Amino acid sequence: MNIRKFIPEDAVFCFKTRANPFIQKFSSELSSQAIAAGVNAYMPDDYIRMAEEMEFFILEKNEKSIAFFTIKKINKTTAEIPLVYIDLDCLGSGIGKTCLQYVEKWILSNWREVKELVVDTIIPEYNGGFYIKAGFVPTGETTCNFPDMSLKALRLTKKLNADGIVTGKMTK
Ligand SMILES: CC(C)(COP(=O)(O)OP(=O)(O)OC[C@H]1O[C@@H](n2cnc3c(N)ncnc32)[C@H](O)[C@@H]1OP(=O)(O)O)[C@@H](O)C(=O)NCCC(=O)NCCS
Repeated sequence: MNIRKFIPEDAVFCFKTRANPFIQKFSSELSSQAIAAGVNAYMPDDYIRMAEEMEFFILEKNEKSIAFFTIKKINKTTAEIPLVYIDLDCLGSGIGKTCLQYVEKWILSNWREVKELVVDTIIPEYNGGFYIKAGFVPTGETTCNFPDMSLKALRLTKKLNADGIVTGKMTK
């Protein structure tokens, strides 16, 4: 597996990889209007703009893109994972977990002041268990504002453990 930075040629892959689960997986939790609003929220060009505003990564396996995820700082000590999407053909094989582990390591190496990681989900019944398994805890309701519609979301939070950082301090 290889994780690399987003390039503009990835935009259509990201659009399809996010649209597919909205269409195929989220219908038990979202109305058809909410699904349409969710899919329409980001067109391929929006991903290109997004990559200028946040950290944006593509995960490849055997030279094929199979997942993408983004990381954004929302205040001095808090980072958010705005998007993490896996190709539906690759679900359940540890790719999501690999993405979250990469996010945490990346933050520990690049944003040492960040102490907590949050994710907002509009489909907590579908994917809440995934985040809880990864050590996140539900911390309250929030709102996800798509251009066509605002949706209720659940915020999950994980305190980041800085033990992995090499501080240079000697242990006795
Ligand atoms: C949610 C999603 C990212 C999970 O990715 P994945 O690659 O299927 O998950 P993994 O295989 O890495 O699973 C990691 C662990 O979480 C568990 N898990 C995965 N999905 C779960 C779920 N819905 N409920 C409970 N546990 C779950 C797995 O059993 C695994 O446990 P283990 O470490 O004991 O083996 C993926 O289903 C996805 O892309 N869904 C569509 C888009 C989406 O929901 N994105 C998030 C938008 S907020």
